Amino acid sequence: MPLNIMNILAIETSCDETAIAILECDGNEQSAEFNVLGNTLLSQVEIHREYGGVFPALAKREHAKNLVPILEAALEEAELLHEDTQAIPEEMRDKIAAILSREPGLAEAFFEFVSECEPPAIDAIAVTAGPGLEPALWVGINFARALALLWDKPLVAVNHMEGHIFASLLRCEEGNRNQVIGNSKSDTETYTLQPITFPLLALLISGGHTELVLMKKWLKYELIGQTRDDAVGEAFDKVARMLELPYPGGPEISRLAELVRNEYQGESLAAKDSPWGKLPRPMIDSGTCDFSFAGLKTAVLYLLKDKSDLNDEEKKYLAHEFENAVADVLWKKTAQALEEANAETLVIGGGVSANTHIRRVFTENMKNEFPRAALRIPVAALTTDNAIMIALAGYYRALRKEFVTSITANGNLSLAKKP
Ligand code: KG4
Ligand code: ZN
Repeated sequence: MPLNIMNILAIETSCDETAIAILECDGNEQSAEFNVLGNTLLSQVEIHREYGGVFPALAKREHAKNLVPILEAALEEAELLHEDTQAIPEEMRDKIAAILSREPGLAEAFFEFVSECEPPAIDAIAVTAGPGLEPALWVGINFARALALLWDKPLVAVNHMEGHIFASLLRCEEGNRNQVIGNSKSDTETYTLQPITFPLLALLISGGHTELVLMKKWLKYELIGQTRDDAVGEAFDKVARMLELPYPGGPEISRLAELVRNEYQGESLAAKDSPWGKLPRPMIDSGTCDFSFAGLKTAVLYLLKDKSDLNDEEKKYLAHEFENAVADVLWKKTAQALEEANAETLVIGGGVSANTHIRRVFTENMKNEFPRAALRIPVAALTTDNAIMIALAGYYRALRKEFVTSITANGNLSLAKKP
C-alpha cells in the first residue's frame, strides 16, 4: 500500500535555467521513492554568454517566455495533459492577471494554455523561493501562485540549496541505472533516496554558494562554515573570464585542467614545473571551516597583469593549478568539519560538484581518510540546476504539511545560521 503517494509539480527559476518537473513521490523520510513523470529544462546559457555572466533582467524575461511552453511539455511527458475547454470565472481571471502583471506577456500565454487544459492530477506545487536572483525567482513564484490558485493546489516554498542536497542523495534504481534522466515516454525512471546515516555534512558548492552545512536530523541545518567573499563557482567563472574562456567558466577550466592531468597520466605535475608556479590556498590553515576565494582570483589576476594573448598551453597549466588550489582548500576544510562533527555521511552538491577533479579528489580522500563514512555525489544530470531537485525537497516539506499561502522571493535565503 502506498503510504504518502503524491504527484509534485516543481518549478525552478532561481538563475539561468527555466525548469519544470513532475514527480510521483511515495514513502516516508527514511525511504522515499520517486518516479520522474515529466522533466523539462531550458538553459539560457547561450543568451547570457555574450554578457560573460547571468544578466538578471534578461533571465527574468526568458523565464517568463519559457514557463508556459515547458509546463505544457512536462505535463505532456507525464501524460497529464488533457485538453478540455475551461471556463475561468472573471474574478479568478482578475486575481491571476494581477499576480502575473509584472511579467509582460505571461498572463496572456498562461490563460491561453490553461483555458484549454483540464486541471492535471497533481497534489502540490513546489517552487524555489531562494536563494538566487530575485527578479528571476519572482517569475517562478508568481507562476506557481497562479497555478495553485487556478487549480486549487497547495503550495510549497523550497530552498534551492536543500534541493541540491536531496539531488545528491538520489539513486537510480536497478533496471534504469545506466539511464540519464531522460524524457522518452517509455522510460521507467524510478529513483530512491539513498539511506542516510546522520550526522550528515553537506558541502554545497555553486555559483552563489560555498558552505558546509550539518544535518543531524531531517531538515534541520547548522552552518559549519562558509565563504567570506566569492563563491567557488564564481571564482571558476571569473578566472575563466580572465583566461578568455566562454561562460560558464567551470566546465571550461575543468576541460583544460584535465588535459594536463591526462598528459601526466595520473602523475601530478609538480607545481615547480608549472610555468605559473604555485597559487595560494587561501585560509587553508586558518583553523576554521570558512573559505575565501577572492585572494585566489586576485592571485590569478596578478599573474596575468603583464600578459596578453595567452596561448592554449599557458591557459591549460593555469587552469590546472587553479583547480588544484580549489580542490585542496575544499578538501582540507571539509575534512576538518567531518572530523569535528563526527559525520557519517558526506554530501557534495551544487553546480561545482560536476567538476571531475573535485569528484575524484573527494572520492579518493574519503576512501583513504574516512573509510567508514559514506560519500554521496549527485548523478551528472542532477548536478546543475534542475526542477527534479526542487520536487524532492518539496516532497519532504509537503510530508510535514509545510504548505504556504504566500511566498516572497529571497535572494539570500539560507538553510542555517551559524550557531
Ligand atoms: O548550482 P548551479 O547550476 O547554479 C547555482 O545555483 O549557482 O552552479 C553553477 C556554477 C557555475 O559557477 C559553473 O561555472 C559551475 O557551477 N560549474 C562548474 C562545473 N560545472 C558547472 N564548476 C567547475 N567545474 C565544472 N565542471
Ligand atoms: Zn544551484
